[in-house]
Amino acid sequence: MLALLSFLLVLSTAPPSLCDRPPFRVIHLLRPQTGSSDGPNVHGLSCLSWRLAVETDNIRDWDTVPMECEAYVGNYMLGHQYRKDSAAVADEAIAYAKGLEVGRDGKDVWVFDIDETSLSNLPYYAKHGFGAEAYNSTSFNAWVLEGKQPALPETLRLYKEVLRLGIKVVFITGRTKDQTRVTGANLKNVGFHTWIKLILKGSSDSGKTAVVYKSERRTKLVESGYRIVGNIGDQWSDLLGTNTGNRTFKLPDPMYYIS
Ligand SMILES: *[C@@H]1O[C@H](CO)[C@@H](O)[C@H](O)[C@H]1NC(C)=O
Ligand SMILES: *[C@@H]1O[C@H](CO)[C@@H](O)[C@H](O)[C@H]1NC(C)=O
Ligand SMILES: [Mg+2]
Repeated sequence: MLALLSFLLVLSTAPPSLCDRPPFRVIHLLRPQTGSSDGPNVHGLSCLSWRLAVETDNIRDWDTVPMECEAYVGNYMLGHQYRKDSAAVADEAIAYAKGLEVGRDGKDVWVFDIDETSLSNLPYYAKHGFGAEAYNSTSFNAWVLEGKQPALPETLRLYKEVLRLGIKVVFITGRTKDQTRVTGANLKNVGFHTWIKLILKGSSDSGKTAVVYKSERRTKLVESGYRIVGNIGDQWSDLLGTNTGNRTFKLPDPMYYIS
């Protein structure tokens, strides 16, 4: 008891905490000042920590956004931060692409994922809890079949640059073949007007994880002589596996997880 008391005394007379001194002050200033507080706690994590752990693939195989973080994720997606984070990815990808020596044989390709990479389902998710509601394939597929997804502006910027540099575009998506026509039309309508391959899941792919399916399709590309110089997606399953490409770029997506 005495020991505890004297310990408390030491604490109360201690100099100002480290957090009050530089350089911590500087780090503190980096916190968003408006529009995106780190939200409530979920299992002892702030929503910001949860999102970071999700983006870094440290938290895996999660089903839905924690209820406590619905407003936080919505705020992130609809506020400026999602756009800024996507722009940072596109800027790096463009700088990398510009440094490539593109072959004259037309065999250099860049792989683009579609959902939450080229086309945005944010209008759908905004009405369905930003990923806090359980995935509903019926209503989601109905939304896809409307063919009204907007482009992700930052990915469109990368896409145009990639084409300008003479790199060919391949889309590989977890969408199924019955959605080929609507997907192609939607891509064209929003500015993705050309590609050499638009690869969708066939019946023989059902049951495969995205990592396996996408790896197989990339391997096929490489076996037919293409060089995958770049690969961009919002899921780690777009970017892991075999023949991932010379560089991969991960876009933010705190709304859902596909293994
Ligand atoms: C899924 O969406 C459909 C179409 O909107 C709806 O009829 C159905 O009730 C939903 N299922 C669940 C489990 O919410
Ligand atoms: C890209 O990756 C392939 C396969 O790993 C490798 O042979 C090639 O040298 C790489 N190209 C560049 C430009 O790094
Ligand atoms: Mg995707």
